[in-house]
Amino acid sequence: MPKTVELIIDGKSHHLPVIEGSENELAIDISDLRDNTGYVTLDVGYKNTGATQSAITFLDGETGILRYRGYAIEDLAEKSSFLEVAYLLVFGELPTKAQLDKFTHDITTHTLVHEDVKKILDGFPSTSHPMGVLASLFCAQTAFYPESLDPNRSTEGVYLSIVRSLAKMPTFAAWAYKNAVGHPVNYPDNKLGYCARFLKMMFALPAEDFEVDEVVADALDKLLILHADHEQNCSTSTVRIVGSSKASIYSSISAGINALWGPLHGGANQEVIVMLENIKKDGGNTDKWIDKAKDKNDPFRLMGFGHRVYKNFDPRAKIIKKAADDVLKKLGVNDPVLDIAKRLEEIALKDPYFVERKLYPNVDFYSGIIYRALGIPVDMFTVMFAMGRMPGWIAQWKELRENKEPIGRPRQIYTGQKLRPFLEISKR
Ligand code: CMC
Repeated sequence: MPKTVELIIDGKSHHLPVIEGSENELAIDISDLRDNTGYVTLDVGYKNTGATQSAITFLDGETGILRYRGYAIEDLAEKSSFLEVAYLLVFGELPTKAQLDKFTHDITTHTLVHEDVKKILDGFPSTSHPMGVLASLFCAQTAFYPESLDPNRSTEGVYLSIVRSLAKMPTFAAWAYKNAVGHPVNYPDNKLGYCARFLKMMFALPAEDFEVDEVVADALDKLLILHADHEQNCSTSTVRIVGSSKASIYSSISAGINALWGPLHGGANQEVIVMLENIKKDGGNTDKWIDKAKDKNDPFRLMGFGHRVYKNFDPRAKIIKKAADDVLKKLGVNDPVLDIAKRLEEIALKDPYFVERKLYPNVDFYSGIIYRALGIPVDMFTVMFAMGRMPGWIAQWKELRENKEPIGRPRQIYTGQKLRPFLEISKR
């Protein structure tokens, strides 16, 4: 007998099916609730709403588990590469050597962007935030590849868009940075690997030789893996809801980039460094800033702390904290804000305010410190997050399409004025 729950409204009983996930997660299926009862559910911020059934990423916030397609994030971060993880997320299985070679080759041969992209880039003032530039350039792909607008594209056509998205992302990201600093753009060097190619496009200057530091490229590859997917977060839900209207992959992902930008989501990694710098400038009094974060009359929040889902620890933050130590040691960097970050973490983890609310360091708390050690400017931190999240957005967009999910269209409870007569302006 399939499990159901009983809902009694005005004495009338309704049986709602229970859905069980492969990790025993339970959900009440309310898809027919409005038709059968006239009621909708209200869940502002979607804290209790499962928007889809997905086979991509499993996370358990209570116990700090994160898995892509069943593989533990700890194993993937240690033993895999970003493109291997991208393949896993998008196609569902780890690639064989031949499959990974082909995928890498396909991506490597699509890294160039149309020359006219430079004209679009030139239109942005150097004050533009690189996230805005990235989202715009990404969406502009719809103009260069108008066939991507066809909602009934063939599997091969979709594959090409996926490859182009992954291939061109580092080019757009590096060019967004070059625009901000007023330097000429660099073209992709396809002899290099994914991260090394990006680093060369970012940092090479026409008048100087440039050698990619493998320590930096490896650290970046690991960071991208850690960011690659995170189930139905704000930006991914955005990608899915835009994609559900059958919008193209480029416009759906561009919307995801915009959603990621905000300081409560991917923008937090930039805010963490700004916060740590402010604390340093203020004399390094961490107790004072912890008190500010606890003061309900002060809008300040401890950036990089807390998570909607993780209520024990964020497994990505654990890996990143160790990676930050390793990278700083290998590169011989001594960053005083790392000490401030560690002190803040130590105090917060003992403080009843943070303990009671289950607020722990999240992925963004230490990632900014590594990015800084790698020479990435603060404005580019969220762009790095976007580069990492690309395979996840693609996988979720592809899954939505393959599952033929209906257009996303939530209901609301209207709280405005009832019908009233229109008053002409002379009578108001
Ligand atoms: N500093 C101080 N207090 C906090 C913080 C914080 N960082 N985060 C949450 N709280 C308090 C909040 O004031 C509330 O207290 P009370 O119950 O007394 O009103 C309680 O904890 C619950 O907070 P919430 O805002 O209802 O929780 P949420 O699940 O809606 O928000 C969050 C999650 C990540 C938006 C929030 O913790 C936050 O703003 N953190 C700082 C920004 C940040 O680091 N964001 C990156 C998230 S991880 C990367 C990603 O996936 O995007």
